[in-house]
Amino acid sequence: MYIQNIKIDDFRNNSCTILNVTGTFNTFYGENASGKTSLLEAINYLSTGKSLNGASNESLIRKNAAAFNIVAEINLGEKNQAFVGIRRSMDGSLEIKLDGERMRSINAIAELLPTIFIGPDCHKLLTDGPKERRRFLDWGLYYTFPQFYPQWRQYQKLLSQRNAALKDNVSRETLSSWSVGLAQAGEQLHLMRLAYLNRFLPILRNTLNRLLPDIKIEEKYQKGWDTENSLLESLTRNTTKELQVGHTLYGPHRSDLALTVDNLSITEFLSQGQQKLISYAMKLAQGEDVKITKKSAPIYLIDDMPSELDKNNQFLIAQALIALNSQVFITGIHKEDVEKLVDKIKDSKMFHVKHGEITMEEGAAVCETCV
Ligand SMILES: Nc1ncnc2c1ncn2[C@@H]1O[C@H](COP(=O)(O)OP(=O)(O)O)[C@@H](O)[C@H]1O
Ligand SMILES: [Mg+2]
Repeated sequence: MYIQNIKIDDFRNNSCTILNVTGTFNTFYGENASGKTSLLEAINYLSTGKSLNGASNESLIRKNAAAFNIVAEINLGEKNQAFVGIRRSMDGSLEIKLDGERMRSINAIAELLPTIFIGPDCHKLLTDGPKERRRFLDWGLYYTFPQFYPQWRQYQKLLSQRNAALKDNVSRETLSSWSVGLAQAGEQLHLMRLAYLNRFLPILRNTLNRLLPDIKIEEKYQKGWDTENSLLESLTRNTTKELQVGHTLYGPHRSDLALTVDNLSITEFLSQGQQKLISYAMKLAQGEDVKITKKSAPIYLIDDMPSELDKNNQFLIAQALIALNSQVFITGIHKEDVEKLVDKIKDSKMFHVKHGEITMEEGAAVCETCV
């Protein structure tokens, strides 16, 4: 699966761009604030219906425009194609289309067009709290377990209801009925996460060995409650504490995938460069798992890679992406940097980004920027 063409209208500083991209590596170079991240963000938005860093939908619409519109033609292999589109207006309306038909949610597009974004602050996956790592794991589950998303939503709904009950200081009897439902949904979610980790962790170990062969990294999944007890027991035993704080302290919403080196925290022991490499390894392993499960690799959106990693590691990552057979969109500031990355990659394409306009190098007529 790969994007063949993409048309972006009024997204951030991009007024109107039509890009004919390649199924292998697409590189984009340009000065700061030229619109490189905006392009990756547009592709990510088409796949997820969400901004990358929690920005409001309105802030993504180009200044003074009424709506943004992103459409793409996707090659699904064996001569199959799909046309997908998303339009978000200033009045708050959202239109999602697949092959001309309106969809009720983004799921149908996400299913066809899984993307993995790796940004300049990717090391935050390790340095920020467990929330980022839970989100990361849940993305992997979302793409590969069809039952995961409905189960996750059900759990979130029950969790907010139980939290409201705790805030309202309801009686222990009332609370215990909320606990039973939450514990059931939470144990189910936990089982799915375990099944995912069974597949994902061996791939991650392999990838870490390739990228950081000299460092022995251990991973440990903490499920979010006492290992000795069921979730229901943990909730029941700690009711007093939970009533005091006013929210649920145990469950898969408190889980973490903790990584350590010699039992020391990664953030204390490793350099920022090494932390970035581990984050890349995690994202590459996630993509490999998607590829094994869905028989098609996700699209990688990699922002500012050359300024983040040294040449040797850039090379290792490019090799891993080639092995995955993924379509890749990589940005960098200098032409030489991105040029080196795709030096020997067949059919790669290079684009120049300037003031929100994107043009293909070598002046081929397949890329147009309209005014
Ligand atoms: N809604 C918007 N309308 C117009 N310009 C925007 C909007 N949102 C962001 N921008 C501008 O787009 C420019 C490009 O941003 P970005 O894509 O992050 O640049 P780069 O990644 O190339 O450094 C920035 O100058 C930013 O202020
Ligand atoms: Mg940027």
